[in-house]
Amino acid sequence: MIAGSRAARSLMVTLALFAAPAACTGARAEGLDASKLPEPVRADYEVFARKCSKCHSLARPLGAGITDDEQWAMYVARMRRQPGSGIFADDEVAILRFLRFHAAELRKKKSGTQDAGGSP
Ligand code: HEC
Repeated sequence: MIAGSRAARSLMVTLALFAAPAACTGARAEGLDASKLPEPVRADYEVFARKCSKCHSLARPLGAGITDDEQWAMYVARMRRQPGSGIFADDEVAILRFLRFHAAELRKKKSGTQDAGGSP
């Protein structure tokens, strides 16, 4: 009997050890580091991060590889029309401003050697 209760107690200790860290996770583990963004883009990013993480992770839009502004305008309009999106026409302006920035960054990356070394 004593052995039984000791086992029960050590089981409880084990559970406590596992439960504690689990309670601390789940904070913003996705998206971009806003502090690395240029100052004027940050507020727009916050709107994007809040509105576009409701139904899927931010990795969805950020990793979609879209480099075309027109395509973003189309996507955001489509997402806004999803039932219960919580995205309003007013939000679109800020969201698209951020996404145009993101698309431009991506285009730079894709075109490769920007600003690297002098011109020929
Ligand atoms: C109301 C829910 C909802 C909101 C809010 C939402 N989306 Fe979506 N999004 C979806 C659904 C549903 C899909 C389709 C998922 C699928 O088919 O796998 C999707 C897919 C996408 C895709 C396509 C990804 C791919 O792999 O082709 C992109 C890009 C995207 N969303 C961007 C956004 C952006 C940007 C916002 C913020 C303006 C946003 N979403 C907000 C529901 C939402």
